[in-house]
This record gives sequence, structure tokens and C-alpha cells, in this order.
Amino acid sequence: MDGIDTLRGKYLSAIAGAADEAALEEVRVAALGKKGEISALMATLGRMEPEARKAAGASLNALKDEIDAALRARKTALADAALDERLKAEWLDVTLPGRPRRTGTIHPVSRVMEELTAIFADMGFSVAEGPQVESDWYNFDALNIPPEHPARQEHDTFFMHRAPGDNRAPHVLRTHTSPVQIRALMERGAPLRVIAPGRVYRMDMDQTHTPMFHQVEGLAIDRDISMANLKWCLEEFCRAFFEVDKVELRFRASHFPFTEPSAEVDIRYSNVGGQLRIGEGDKWMEILGSGMVHPKVLQAAGVDPTQWQGFAFGMGIDRIAMLKYGIPDLRAFFESDLRWLRHYGFSPLDVPDLAGGLST
Ligand code: DAH
Repeated sequence: MDGIDTLRGKYLSAIAGAADEAALEEVRVAALGKKGEISALMATLGRMEPEARKAAGASLNALKDEIDAALRARKTALADAALDERLKAEWLDVTLPGRPRRTGTIHPVSRVMEELTAIFADMGFSVAEGPQVESDWYNFDALNIPPEHPARQEHDTFFMHRAPGDNRAPHVLRTHTSPVQIRALMERGAPLRVIAPGRVYRMDMDQTHTPMFHQVEGLAIDRDISMANLKWCLEEFCRAFFEVDKVELRFRASHFPFTEPSAEVDIRYSNVGGQLRIGEGDKWMEILGSGMVHPKVLQAAGVDPTQWQGFAFGMGIDRIAMLKYGIPDLRAFFESDLRWLRHYGFSPLDVPDLAGGLST
């Protein structure tokens, strides 16, 4: 067959010239595909004389094998070249120094919780916890707030959903940390000294209120505890916490169902050009409610009020954080604005403790 050499030349050079896999495939189809040139020649063999067919068949088969091998070799070469290209383009110098990443900061509320835990631990208080979804009984009844008590309205409570037909009192998002008093007393009994920092919820939103905020509950139960112990404890706390020589507290007679007598405590501060300062000025910010634990509360928690007595307080953590760190707007606390967090946040490595000075 005369054409064989021509065909060989034609296809081998087409294969060598194929720039990518798609071009190579076109060459394969043109030569060896069902309707390809070489396949067509193979089909003519049947009409040849036996002698001629033998010779032509052998050379056609040899050509077919040769083209097939060339196609495969070219395919491998193309793949290798593509890999080389990628390796060159995606080259990475692992010896370059890493880019510094921004590190996160500790939120002022978390920081203040660590600080107050350190201060109260130093006075012998341990940390107690309770659930944020709380039963009606712990949040109200056990604290001497029965179902029809007006204090229930004042708490702007969030109620959890109950299935239709389930007539039990719904659970609530705890409106204060005071239910932890009951839980801690029931679990540990008297005498007891605990604080309970955590989230609380009320349906309220303006410049100084957010629907979620933070309180720390304090409870000290023993045989001979008085209002004098409460006053000393709170003044000592404020001095240590605010780290200024002069801290002025004002005790105002008040009323809470779970304490008798009760007092609210305000702290003196000034606000000059949006900068809050503690211990000076003519403004007062209410930071806590407190009092002597009501006998009915002790009773509800299974503690004998003829044997034991004590004080309790509930303090606004966000408020004392605003005062200490001069942060004027409460709502910004919970907006997760990175600029705010970087400005007011604390280094994660800087853990407050009293021995080293609280915030040095
Ligand atoms: N639970 C009160 C509130 O959220 C605060 C409070 C007042 C807590 C007096 C106390 C207390 O433990 O003795 O408004």
C-alpha cells in the first residue's frame, strides 16, 4: 500500500503538534475512530485478493499500533508538561515568615467576671451556677414572689413556649441570678458563701437596658451575719474592683420580696464629655440590690431560719464594667462590632488575680 508512509507521516506529525489533550483526541478520532482514515482502509481489506490482503493487513496493523503508541506517549508528555506548569505557578516559599494574624480579645463583661470572681474568692466565696432557662418556682415562688405578687409584673419576663394543652406553669428565661441562691442552698446547705455570675433576661430595650444582661448574685449564710457584714463586704469589693482610693457608696432603703430589710446601693460617678469616672462628680448610678435574706427564702431552700441567717445581693455586671472602663453605651456591649471589641477588649493572656494587682 503506497499511502501507508504518507499516512504515517501525516498522523505522527499531527500527534507531535497537538497542543493539548483535546487536539490529541481529534487526531485519534481522525485516524483510528470508527470513521477514521485508518479504520476505513481496514474495511477495504475484505475486498482484496488473499495475498495482497495479507501484506496490506500487516502494514495497516503495524501503522495502527505505531499511531496508538505515539498517541499515548504524547498524552503522557502533555500531562507532565501541565503538571510542570502548575508546579511553577503554584510555587510557595515555605521559608517566608508567617503573616501576623489579629488575635481576639476578652470582652469587658468576661473580664469583669474574672475580676470579681478573684475578689470574692479572696473573701471566701465560691462560684455557683444555675440554668438560664429556669422554672417558675426557682425564679419566683421560692424567692417569696407568689403567683399574684406585683413584683412578677415588674420583671418583664420572657416565658418559654408550652405545648397546647400542657397547663403547667411555663419555664422562664431567668429574670435575675437570685434563683441560684435557692439552688446553691439546696445543694450545699448552710453555712454558705457563694457568688453566681451569669446572664439574665428581661423584655426591655433602651440606652441603659438590653433584653439580655449580666448580674452577679452574692449570698453569705451563717449563724451571726448582719447588715454590717454586708456593708463591709460591698465596700471592700468596690475598693478592690475599681482600684481607686476613693469610692463612695450610698445605701438607700428599698424593698425586695426576698430580703428584709432591703437596700439599694448607688455609686458616685461623673460623666465628663462621655468619659465616666468613679468616685467623683455629682451623679449616682445604681449598681445593686441587697438585704438580709428573708426567712421564707431560707425555708423554701430547706434551711432553718431560726438557726441561720445571712445577706444577699444582686449586682449589675455590665454597669460596673461601664463604670470601671469608662464605656458610655450599654448597647454596644452586645453588637459584636470588631472595632469596639478591639478597643475595649483585653489581652487573653492577661488573667486578673489579686496577688499580682488586679489589672496591672
Ligand atoms: N434580684 C434583684 C433584681 O434583679 C436584685 C437583688 C436584690 C438581688 C436584692 C438580691 C437581693 O440578692 O438581696 O432586681
